[in-house]
Amino acid sequence: MKNDKIKNIAVIGSGTMGSQIAMVCALEGYQVTLQDISEESLAKAKQSLEGHMQRRVEKGKFSEDQVSKAFECMRFTSSLEEAVKDTDIVIEAIVEKLDVKRALFAEVDRLAPAHTILATNSSRIVSSKIADATKRSEKICNMHFFNPVLVMELVEVVQGPHTSEETIQVTIELTKRINKIPILLKKEINGFVANRLLGKLMDEAVYLLENEIANVEEIDLACTKALNHPIGPFALMDLVGIDVAYYARMQNFQETGDESMKPSKIFVDKVEKGELGRKTGKGFYTYS
Ligand code: 3HC
Repeated sequence: MKNDKIKNIAVIGSGTMGSQIAMVCALEGYQVTLQDISEESLAKAKQSLEGHMQRRVEKGKFSEDQVSKAFECMRFTSSLEEAVKDTDIVIEAIVEKLDVKRALFAEVDRLAPAHTILATNSSRIVSSKIADATKRSEKICNMHFFNPVLVMELVEVVQGPHTSEETIQVTIELTKRINKIPILLKKEINGFVANRLLGKLMDEAVYLLENEIANVEEIDLACTKALNHPIGPFALMDLVGIDVAYYARMQNFQETGDESMKPSKIFVDKVEKGELGRKTGKGFYTYS
């Protein structure tokens, strides 16, 4: 398959990541179908994207025409079959649970055309854990975006031992065409590059907080005002979702049995209270 053969894209999962991945693709003129099992989630995704794009129109970053053309390129559906039947690439952005992803990939493998690449946006599950759920392991790879996708420029493309060079080339070319900067990981590693770096920063921030060395605001200030990060680790955990940080640590612990990888009490408390960050109005900070 030639790179310019990608015309139709299916994004599975209409949460924060999936919806914005769909938008960046539609803005470049790709025909995009955003699929989710929940009609409610699809409606919320559409509403949220309209809000984000409206603000960009007001700031003069896009014209009304560009945005309405992008929305014309988008379809929203709860039917997986409908979403993948004519697609050239599937980008999966569903819950970070291996068994759920494997089941989805097996189903998509059955429904999608033979040439279709199946990429996962997982932030921590390498594609070799999923590839053998399909009969097209050479077409499976990781394509990992960052939150907020409309803003963050990097995409990590990860080649598994099963992934063909052609799949990687097409995925990298698509990444560039949607105005993102790809980095190619030729070997799989848990957490890839950016999240491995970030995980260390977040764990250290939690250590400093739990040991009462400094409070949330002070630790964030150290990062923003001493290290010039755009936001501090606690503000960032609120942005990404404290549940995401919690489940990543829990899975690392379950996979390795290493107690030091268990999510700390702060994460457990926040998840139990439903204080998951911006999306619930409260995390380490409170949002109006
Ligand atoms: N969704 C989409 N766009 C958003 C947004 C959101 N949730 N929040 C802010 N933006 C946009 C704004 O619309 C604005 O766009 P514009 O430049 O086109 O006008 C731009 O971001 C700047 O926003 P603001 O001026 O309101 O606010 P900030 O200057 O504080 O920027 C930020 C917000 C871009 C989120 C900035 O704080 C930032 O870069 N934070 C770090 C983000 C980061 O590190 N992301 C990586 C997270 S790790 C990850 O994603 C791992 C993955 O596996 C989940």
